[in-house]
Amino acid sequence: MDERIVSSHLSAEDEPVDLSLRPRYLDDYIGQTRVKENLKVYIEAARMRGDTLDHVLLYGPPGLGKTTLSHIIANEMGVHVRTTSGPAIERPGDLAAILTNLEQGDLLFIDEIHRLNRSVEEVLYPAMEDFALDIVIGKGPSARSVRLDLPPFTLVGATTRAGSLSSPLRDRFGVVSRLEYYTPEELTLIVMRAADLLQVTIREDGAEEIACRARGTPRVANRLLKRVRDFVQVQGDGVITSVTARDALDRIQVDKLGLDEVDHKLLKSIMEHFGGGPVGLETIAATIGEESHTVEDVYEPYLMQTGLLQRTPRGRMVTPRCYQHFGVELPK
Ligand code: ADE
Repeated sequence: MDERIVSSHLSAEDEPVDLSLRPRYLDDYIGQTRVKENLKVYIEAARMRGDTLDHVLLYGPPGLGKTTLSHIIANEMGVHVRTTSGPAIERPGDLAAILTNLEQGDLLFIDEIHRLNRSVEEVLYPAMEDFALDIVIGKGPSARSVRLDLPPFTLVGATTRAGSLSSPLRDRFGVVSRLEYYTPEELTLIVMRAADLLQVTIREDGAEEIACRARGTPRVANRLLKRVRDFVQVQGDGVITSVTARDALDRIQVDKLGLDEVDHKLLKSIMEHFGGGPVGLETIAATIGEESHTVEDVYEPYLMQTGLLQRTPRGRMVTPRCYQHFGVELPK
């Protein structure tokens, strides 16, 4: 890891293996072309002015590279990054401690920023806007507010749901970027790059097979690559081709659209128990034993993207394409 990078409160997804596969500069980052090109301009402009970069909000489904991008921004700006997350900051004092420990120009990354509570958010407003921390000293009628200066810093917030952010918070970000699912072509390049870093022999058709089943998500692509590697290492000649990749992916029950066991359970329960829908989110979540926000943030976006599931005002419905995918006849 770059010596300039100091991270605290590492989240579970920041395991060392993943970090080693992550691109560190914008030029190594594949996909999200528009976001990347715009960020390049903002970073160059800030550097030319000797300024900090404006606060950045990154949103989109999990696994698309929000954490990676925040580290890249820090590397490109040549600054330290401090990492934390919405749920980790329980009280205003926790945030005040983080803010007062920042150094000039630092990048503060707050993952799951939509989960900050209201009282913490209120400390963040003046910090973002005026680089100031308002603290109250004393209690009752003699209480008074003191304003402390903070060093200029860049906040990068990440969220799976921009809609859950309060508007005062959203309005304080100068750059708001939405990350999209990656195309199979982009994911193929990502898998080839990761295979190279992992020193795995892979043919392009093998990378394509993995890319097509990776739900548009680099994190999933890299995970599938590692599992396919295990199979070809133990049961094959160590080379990933379309045939060996397909065999391995079938073994781990990832289907041609990249759907896994949980997706299957979700869609089948709507088809088999609720006549194809509409059915409410809470009911689906309870039926398959998952949290409703996990269903909503992790599973549904890709199922909607592939046109298998629809959200309607009366609940979730599967589409004719879903019946087709499972080879089940459409109900009358
Ligand atoms: N690894 C994970 N995401 C990546 C990306 N967008 N580009 C290159 N490598 C990656």
